Amino acid sequence: MKLNPRVTELALYDIKGGPGVAADIGHINTKSVVTGYQPDADGLKNALTGAEIVLIPAGVPRKPGMTRDDLFNTNASIVRDLAKAVSDAAPDANVLVISNPVNSTVPICAEIFKSKGTYNPKRLFGVTTLDVVRASRFISQHKSTDPADENITVVGGHSGATIVPLLSQSGYSLEGKDLDDFVFRVQFGGDEVVKAKDGAGSATLSMAMAGARFAESLLKAAQGQKGVVEPTFVDSPLYKDQGIDFFASKVELGPNGVEKIHEVGKITPKEQELLDACLKDLKKNIDKGVEFVKSKP
Ligand code: NAD
Ligand code: LMR
Repeated sequence: MKLNPRVTELALYDIKGGPGVAADIGHINTKSVVTGYQPDADGLKNALTGAEIVLIPAGVPRKPGMTRDDLFNTNASIVRDLAKAVSDAAPDANVLVISNPVNSTVPICAEIFKSKGTYNPKRLFGVTTLDVVRASRFISQHKSTDPADENITVVGGHSGATIVPLLSQSGYSLEGKDLDDFVFRVQFGGDEVVKAKDGAGSATLSMAMAGARFAESLLKAAQGQKGVVEPTFVDSPLYKDQGIDFFASKVELGPNGVEKIHEVGKITPKEQELLDACLKDLKKNIDKGVEFVKSKP
């Protein structure tokens, strides 16, 4: 975000070390002003006040053998409390949730904002960009193409079977093991990193790129650029009739956040099978987030 010329001020908050990271990043020679905060002296409130975009990557990452849902017990309350602070200090901001499990932490934010009367469904986003980034990289490795030219739609949510790449929409027709391997790699790309880091965490560098890409898209759209489309996990009408209030599909962004939510569109029978499995898991993940706020507001 410090490299992004559209950013005027970057306010960094962490329970520890915010000012140190800010001093470090602040030396990068772009114009934005960087400030760092920690919990003392109203740090969180001061970091949030006036923010147009709030990126939330706070919480614990996975270790080998864990699912993202295993992070729920720790991260749910962290995200809940940050959402309360956002609601108080930056109620009109676009809120971009990175903290896992995204399928549950986004509904947690929504429930908190509803309870405080500040919910704007057009301004709450689960960041699923890394799945899209991976899908374009992995297909380019398979087909020996330039990933910059690849744009694979990924819908659903952000964990295992809820991640549904729609290769057919980009004109690809992988079959059999090739298709299964590709889908598996996109669905479990995060696990590749967790395994390779061997207990030292999960994706951070590719995540930083993906989070910054999504925020850049929002900034472009806020500044009037038309046709900015990113898949993202939002309050969506697409599967509400099945009791699923949040879903990631292609979303056109605008000055008010969500401008238009695209339908999933034409998919193959195999992709439909993946989507059916996704919706089952997604409902459970979303309900878990909603229940958490009800029981531990
Ligand atoms: P990390 O441990 O490197 O960093 C997390 C930071 O959060 C730490 O510095 C910690 O001090 C801070 N923190 C903890 N509680 C906080 C609070 N209450 N307020 C503010 N800061 C707090 O972990 P990471 O690798 O950066 O991962 C962070 C989260 O992002 C994890 O939940 C991870 O699963 C998730 N993640 C999501 C995606 C995605 O695609 N959506 C990708 C990568 C990581
Ligand atoms: C990812 O997709 O890399 C992140 O969600 C982190 C993880 O736990 O895999």
